[in-house]
Amino acid sequence: MTATVVLGLAWGDEGKGRVCDALASDADYVSRYSGGNNAGHTVRVGSEEFKLNLVPSGIVREDVVCTIGNGVVVNPEALCEEVQALEARGLSVRDRLKVDGRAHLIMPYHIALDSHRELALGDARIGTTNRGIGPAYEDKVARYGIRVQDISDEGILKAKLKAALREKNAIFENVYGEKPYEVSDLASWLLEYEDFMAPMISDTGTFLREGLENREKVLLEGGQATLLDNDHGTYPFVTSSNPTVGGAIVGSGISTQYLEYVVGVTKAYTTRVGDGPMPTELFDETAETIREAGHEYGTATGRARRVGWLDLPAVKWAASLNGITHLALTLLDVLSAVEKVNVCVGYEIDGKRFDGYPMHQTDLHHARPIYKELPGWDGDITGCRMRVDLPREAREFVEFVEAEIGAPLCMISVGPEREQAIVERIAV
Ligand code: IMP
Repeated sequence: MTATVVLGLAWGDEGKGRVCDALASDADYVSRYSGGNNAGHTVRVGSEEFKLNLVPSGIVREDVVCTIGNGVVVNPEALCEEVQALEARGLSVRDRLKVDGRAHLIMPYHIALDSHRELALGDARIGTTNRGIGPAYEDKVARYGIRVQDISDEGILKAKLKAALREKNAIFENVYGEKPYEVSDLASWLLEYEDFMAPMISDTGTFLREGLENREKVLLEGGQATLLDNDHGTYPFVTSSNPTVGGAIVGSGISTQYLEYVVGVTKAYTTRVGDGPMPTELFDETAETIREAGHEYGTATGRARRVGWLDLPAVKWAASLNGITHLALTLLDVLSAVEKVNVCVGYEIDGKRFDGYPMHQTDLHHARPIYKELPGWDGDITGCRMRVDLPREAREFVEFVEAEIGAPLCMISVGPEREQAIVERIAV
């Protein structure tokens, strides 16, 4: 009766899908608890590559049941397309996927608002994925949201749409000079997905808790990551949900009593998509080398990711915030492409050394990284399956990171294939 959370320790794209896939070999359920189709998880199975946005990565294992929890925001069109695409590739999805009836829906007006706002912000834009995530969560908190369960009751759906549109249409017409939305058009659009959604709608929290009581194992899969958390991240350059460990509990509907392991995932370097501070960002040829070697282009949007050295103060802070029990280090092989490896061990802020992670956003904008230089390593490490197989320099890098973060490694990925990993402790 254990639940394990897998979450990112930086700005997302740490390879959580990959880590979840490895841990899912021993799990009965995999559940997404936050975010929506702004996420992008890549899982490789043999020669096949699956890119998942909304469906939990456990779906690639036929014996795993997946849930989309109450904390997720669901675009029904995107979900339908993703499920159909997976089924077209031979996976059984609809009989193994449950969607919580309390989860909120992303409506077309959320996506339109997301785009308008980003344009209006100009240089101060957040760099969102333009998927309507923020406006959908806003409506949830404002109690104007449309939930997955509303799809099965046309009367209630229309009443809720009417309430939601009262202010929104005024904004569309008067602020953005757009046509207002019609309740009937939106209701018809949504009801097109009723037959598709209805069999999957469920109380996923109760379902998971029953499984846990029956000694089954649950993996909670985070979207985005700690530094994009709405409360703890680099606000306002964050997403609108809580990818951190507390969000996993709220967003999946299970209690802390079941939570045994928290696996924090970090790349061997750092990436970020979207705007906002990133103290270790590189703008030179090394950035290009790492970007190409790591295929650092967004799964959800295709955007080139910003690239930098591993930011240890940030990752250590994120590890502590989430109380991680294990660490997973991903994309170690990408650093084989560089001659020497830097790791940020502290910052200089306005002329003073600071070893923690700054609370004040202005400090973070002013933070200059202080690096420890470590030797690079020669050769291809994709064949390494045990720590001792790694070149000495790579081993020293791994040991340094593990000791600094202070949590045991459970997995080191050394290549994109499922088996290209050093698995030391299976957490679930
Ligand atoms: P939103 O979640 O689309 O509102 O975007 C808010 C911020 O989070 C932007 O900087 C996005 O680039 C970033 N973001 C959202 N989802 C992901 C993700 O899955 N990986 C990396 N960054 C993300």
